[in-house]
Amino acid sequence: MAKTAQLIIDGKTYEFPVIVGTENETAVDISDLLEKSGAITLDFGYKNTGATKSAITFLDGDKGILRYRGYSIEDLAEKSTFLEVAYLLIFGELPTTDQLNKFSGDIKNHTMVHEDIKKILDGFPSSSHPMGVLASLFCAQTAFYPEALDPNRAAEGVYLSIVRSLAKMPTFAAWAFKNAVGHPVNYPDNRLDYCSRFLKMLYALPAEDYHVDPVVADALDKLLILHADHEQNCSTSTVRIVGSSKASIYSSISAGINALWGPLHGGANQEVILMLEAIRKDGGDTEKWINKAKDKNSGFRLMGFGHRVYKNFDPRAKIIKKAADDVLKKLGVNDPVLEIAMKLEEVALRDPYFIERKLYPNVDFYSGIIYRALGIPVDMFTVMFAMGRLPGWIAQWKEMRENKEPIGRPRQVYVGQKLRPYVPIAKR
Ligand code: CMC
Repeated sequence: MAKTAQLIIDGKTYEFPVIVGTENETAVDISDLLEKSGAITLDFGYKNTGATKSAITFLDGDKGILRYRGYSIEDLAEKSTFLEVAYLLIFGELPTTDQLNKFSGDIKNHTMVHEDIKKILDGFPSSSHPMGVLASLFCAQTAFYPEALDPNRAAEGVYLSIVRSLAKMPTFAAWAFKNAVGHPVNYPDNRLDYCSRFLKMLYALPAEDYHVDPVVADALDKLLILHADHEQNCSTSTVRIVGSSKASIYSSISAGINALWGPLHGGANQEVILMLEAIRKDGGDTEKWINKAKDKNSGFRLMGFGHRVYKNFDPRAKIIKKAADDVLKKLGVNDPVLEIAMKLEEVALRDPYFIERKLYPNVDFYSGIIYRALGIPVDMFTVMFAMGRLPGWIAQWKEMRENKEPIGRPRQVYVGQKLRPYVPIAKR
């Protein structure tokens, strides 16, 4: 028998269907609550609110499970490539060789960026944070490909926008960095794979015969896979909600880039390294910093710790910790902040404050250490996250569109002034 839930308001009982997902996740469907009862739900930060049904990513925060389209993140990180995972997320199945060749070939055909977009880049001061530049350049595509503004675009047109997004993202990302250092930009070298192409645009100096280290390219590919989707988080929900107004894919994803930028979301990876460096400069006393994080008056949080959904180890953090160790060894890098990170983790994991609140290292705790070892500048860390998250945003935008979801429009409980008469300025 179908399960139902009952809600009693002012003695009157209302009944609602209970929806159960593939992995037995349970939700009370309150779609007609307002209509039936005149009441709404209130849930700051949407901590208990499901905004959609999705078939893309499964996450069990208590068990530390993350799966894309049913495949475990551990399996994908070990055996797959970023473009294969992008295809899986966006189109629902792992690609055959032919499908993958076509997909990566289409992406290669669109890596160049219109020269006039470069003029927009030239308008940014070198002090601009690369995330702001990235969001702006990404959104600027609406001006260069106005057909993407058509909300009823046919599937082939949507495919083209998807390919353009994936193709140009590394070019925009590398250019945002070149702008920050005041260097001329590099153009994409289509003989290279996705990550190597990006790394060459990022690092090569003019007239330099630059060779990408495969260890670096492989490590970056793995990091992008780990970041590729994470169901309904702040930036992904932003992409879906902007897209629900039938705004273009480029504006929806640009909004997601902006949402990701904040230090409580993707911006945390940059903050982690700044924090670890500050601890090192301060003498490396991890206990002192743990105490600071526990003191609510300090305003300081242990960056890279805690997660809205994971109340167990973030599975991505486990993979990244091992990858950080491998990459540092392979590249022969001895980063003193890795030692501080491990000490901090050890102290936090046996501290009752962190145990009681189930605060574990998250994906951002060790990713910054790898980025640093790969030579990626701190300001670019969140850009790397955005590059990785792009297929997830695309998949979620596409799913929202194909499900014909209604425009996102939350309600509120008004707590302001009641009606009052206007007071002329002389009498205030
Ligand atoms: N350091 C110290 N205390 C913390 C931390 C932390 N990093 N995170 C949470 N707490 C405490 C918090 O003060 C609260 O304590 P109390 O119950 O005594 O008031 C309790 O733990 C619950 O915290 P919350 O802020 O209600 O939890 P949330 O689910 O709203 O926030 C979070 C999740 C990720 C924003 C938060 O843990 C945080 O600020 N972490 C640091 C930033 C960070 O690493 N963000 C990256 C998240 S992973 C990448 C991504 O997906 O975006």
